[in-house]
Amino acid sequence: MTKILMVCLGNICRSPLAEGILKSKLPQPGFIVDSAGTGNYHVGDLPDKRSIQIAKKYGLDITNQRGRQFTVLDFDNFDLIYVMDESNYKNVIKLARNQDDVDKVYFILNEIYPEQNHSVPDPYTGGIQGFENTFKMLDEACSEIALKLKNNK
Ligand code: 4NP
Repeated sequence: MTKILMVCLGNICRSPLAEGILKSKLPQPGFIVDSAGTGNYHVGDLPDKRSIQIAKKYGLDITNQRGRQFTVLDFDNFDLIYVMDESNYKNVIKLARNQDDVDKVYFILNEIYPEQNHSVPDPYTGGIQGFENTFKMLDEACSEIALKLKNNK
């Protein structure tokens, strides 16, 4: 069983989309995909309406998800932790207890642009087009992740 965690700041815009997209590309059972935010502003909340809308447009229902905050226990519960941007990376790494924890954390866009540490921009304060862009970037990255994970099985 491989366990993958998607992390952003609020856990309402980017990481819920990443969770929904990756889940849809992986066979069940065999993989657990979850998401969390480094902040606590949206604990218990549904994903942002615009993330729900874009997911629905592409055939995914993410309304079962609720916001939660990343905790140090996530290093024990997950094998791979994908962050959206540098600020997420720093906030997650701050909680790492050892090198094993650090080694689980990856920039999600490095899957398609290796070693570039590019960010998935936060679409929260913009319009729906930002969510469309977010979806496309995450869809590409998740296709790569799913391909690798399925080949390693
Ligand atoms: P996310 O976007 O990190 O992609 O979920 C955000 C959502 C809410 C906030 C920040 C980022 N916020 O500050 O409330």
